[in-house]
Amino acid sequence: MCGIVGYVGKKTAQDILINGLKRLEYRGYDSAGIATLDEDANPHCARSVGKIAELEKVLAAKPHEGKIGIGHTRWATHGGVTVNNAHPHRAGDVFLVHNGIIENYKELKAKLSDHEFKSDTDTEVLAALIDSYYKGKATLADAVAKALSEVRGTYGIIAFSPREPEQLVVARFGSPLIVGLGKDETIIASDASALLGYTRNAIYLNDGELAICTRDDIDLRNLKLESIKAKPEEIQGDAEQIQKGGYDHFLLKEIMEQPTTLHNTLSGRINVKQGTMRLGGFNLTPKELREIEHVVIVGCGTAYYAGLLASYYIEQIVPDVTTEVVIASEYRYRSFHLPKHSVALIVSQSGETADTLACLREIKQRGAKVFGIVNVVGSTIAREVDGGSYVYAGPEISVASTKAFTSQVATMLIFAGMLSEAHGGNRETIAKLATELDALPDEIAKTLETCAPIMKELAGKYCKYDDALYLGRDTAFPIALEGALKLKEISYIHAEGYATGELKHGPIALVDSTYFEVFNILKGRLFEKSIGGLQEVRARGGKAIVLTDAPESLDIEADDIVRIDTKFELLTPILLNTLQQLFAYYVAVARGNDVDQPRNLAKSVTVE
Ligand code: F6R
Repeated sequence: MCGIVGYVGKKTAQDILINGLKRLEYRGYDSAGIATLDEDANPHCARSVGKIAELEKVLAAKPHEGKIGIGHTRWATHGGVTVNNAHPHRAGDVFLVHNGIIENYKELKAKLSDHEFKSDTDTEVLAALIDSYYKGKATLADAVAKALSEVRGTYGIIAFSPREPEQLVVARFGSPLIVGLGKDETIIASDASALLGYTRNAIYLNDGELAICTRDDIDLRNLKLESIKAKPEEIQGDAEQIQKGGYDHFLLKEIMEQPTTLHNTLSGRINVKQGTMRLGGFNLTPKELREIEHVVIVGCGTAYYAGLLASYYIEQIVPDVTTEVVIASEYRYRSFHLPKHSVALIVSQSGETADTLACLREIKQRGAKVFGIVNVVGSTIAREVDGGSYVYAGPEISVASTKAFTSQVATMLIFAGMLSEAHGGNRETIAKLATELDALPDEIAKTLETCAPIMKELAGKYCKYDDALYLGRDTAFPIALEGALKLKEISYIHAEGYATGELKHGPIALVDSTYFEVFNILKGRLFEKSIGGLQEVRARGGKAIVLTDAPESLDIEADDIVRIDTKFELLTPILLNTLQQLFAYYVAVARGNDVDQPRNLAKSVTVE
């Protein structure tokens, strides 16, 4: 989603802003712009539609020299993708970049008849509102605070004015902003990755906070402009993690680095000898763990599917605990009831997803404890939960989530193991889970290595199809959903995930020779039933790819079969999913798509 960068210091602002915006490209955007003030406090603004390279062409013709400025990548919400709708917006002396949505912008616009609007955006309305209060003795900070007190919605903003040419005014409600404190410079960004390499020292703004930032000072206030004590924190990660590291795309890098990132997820949390597992951040006593009767898992998209998969395992290994997995955008508006002794797992890679965050707050208000399963360190969800664990997958740059999914599932499986232990679950099963989790990074490495060429070849064979069904039973069902999501996101092939047993209840009507089906089939108790679904599809002319851990001795008839060789009894679905990730990647490449920044998508969905 939209990205924000601001700079005030001794260097040329344009370079830092463009570099920062490039670091935020992965979030998804459709236009970009910067505004700066030169040495004589004259404003300059450049905006363009499309990639940052387009903005660079505009700037190459007329470079900006100033040492203070703001930049933005826009993901259109109000108004189409046009230069006029791109940020920064100007109203009088106020220049503004904004992430989020001003819900009452029409109401506010109606009161601002003096301003001649040039865009369709809610942001220009906010700029005009600030400008309307920027009169007489009012400072920019006064005007921003006054305007924000009238706003309903979410925002992360940076404003500046030629009348106060040495400062940026920054404020946040519901949309992240981080103020990096460098030597003789202050850099602001909506995502810590834009600050890496400049400074590790930063203030994460909380909702309702405003900061007046100069080259060497941060004056932190609330919206009544009362002073607040700032608590600088260390930014995690390093600039190398956000490079492609020799791969053609971030997506392939992130798929291939799963053995390492998963190792980081598991590190120090599994004791294979004792057959035990611990997640420190859950800060629950054995008694509190024992008292849990109901676990609700909340997420969106891939995070939701990670939760769904985890719920199958929790049910399998934890006696007497009920799990419920919910889609955040639905749950937040449902009249849900949480039984006594409920806890919630809030699953989010970015830690900023608006709907997931809203659920966290609703659930907390109803008195249940909320625990985060979050990747981005210092993100809003991580800061608002009662406890939880980072998944430590490292920065995930490609829009489609891969390594975060695997690490989310693994983290929730550790939680399942802890819960099972406290509830007197079967010790052998817990020990088996510990052993398989410990071996998972190596099994994934083996699967990726042996199967990448096979999945590439299959992608070449199926990349011209327009429709696909992904199917699976039991723990392979959430995997089927995730496989279909991955394919549609990056290849734009229409793909749907179904439980194999649901075929006869509707989707089989679609099957003909123009569709292909991906069957995730596990050996074991539901093998025969899964094969039944496969036969039904083939009898109707459907092309079937089977992904399976079944040995050659188990006969399977399909157009293509990819067999993985593993001794796993529990975690095979995670291995099958890595095949699906590779398949989606290679199909998207074969179709010539922008793999890392698929159309219409954003990495971090900070608006509803
Ligand atoms: C799919 C994908 C999305 C996200 C979803 C939730 O590849 O990336 O479906 O999983 O937007 O995002 P987070 O995990 O950041 O809350």
